[in-house]
Amino acid sequence: MKPIVIAIDGHSSTGKSTVAKKLAKELKYKYVDTGAMYRAVTLFAMRNNWLQNGEVNESKLVENLSSIEINFEYNPEAGTNDVILNGENVEDEIRAMEVSENVSSVAKIDEVRKKLVQIQKQLGDDKGVVMDGRDIGTVVFPEAELKIFMTASADIRAQRRYKELKEKGEDLTFEEVLKNVRHRDEVDSNRENSPLVKAKDAIKIDNSHMSQEEQFETILNLAKERI
Ligand code: C5P
Repeated sequence: MKPIVIAIDGHSSTGKSTVAKKLAKELKYKYVDTGAMYRAVTLFAMRNNWLQNGEVNESKLVENLSSIEINFEYNPEAGTNDVILNGENVEDEIRAMEVSENVSSVAKIDEVRKKLVQIQKQLGDDKGVVMDGRDIGTVVFPEAELKIFMTASADIRAQRRYKELKEKGEDLTFEEVLKNVRHRDEVDSNRENSPLVKAKDAIKIDNSHMSQEEQFETILNLAKERI
C-alpha cells in the first residue's frame, strides 16, 4: 500500500472537514484543515486592529507575516487537530462568525497565500495526507492522487452552518449565515490568485442530499482504488 495525497476542495460549509477527518482517521493519515490556517491569520489581523468593516490593512499584515507562526497540535480530549497561533490554541476562536466574515478578504492577499501554501506543501511532503481547502487540487498538490470537489446548494450549506453556530451559542439569524456563505462563494470563486475552481481531474460530489456516511463511503472507496 502506497500512501497518497487526498485533496478535498469545495464551497464553504459543504462538510469537507467532517469527511476529511473521518477519512484520515480510517486510513491513519494526517489531516490538514487549510481553512483553519487562513482563519488563524485573519484572527491575528483582527487582534491587531488591521481589519475593519471587512477592509484589511494589507500592508501592515504583509509587513508582519513573518511574526505569525501556525502549527497543528493533536487534542486527545476532543480528538481534533487544533490550530496553534504563535503558541496559543485558537481552535474555538477561529470558528466565530466575525472571523468567517473577514477571512475571504485576508485569503485574497498574495503574500498570505504564498506563506500558507508553502507550509501546506511541507505538511504533505511525505504523502499519507488528507487536506481540505479551496486550492489543494489546483495549486498546493496538483499531482494529488485523489481530488474531490464538494458542493451543495447555498441554502442547505447555510442551514447546516446555522445549526452548528446556534449549538455553539452564537447569536445570529439564518439570513446572516446565508449571506456569509454567498459572500464567501463570491469572493473565493472570483479572486485572481488561486480562485475556487474544480480541478479538471477532480471528482465532483454534490452532497445536498447525501448523508455523512454516504459521503465517507464514496470517498473511501475512491481512495482504496488508488492506494
Ligand atoms: O474551509 P473554511 O470555510 O474554514 O475556510 C475559510 C476561508 O479560508 C474560505 O472561505 C476561503 O476564503 C479561505 N481558504 C482559502 N484557501 C484554502 C482554504 C480556505 O482561500 N485552501
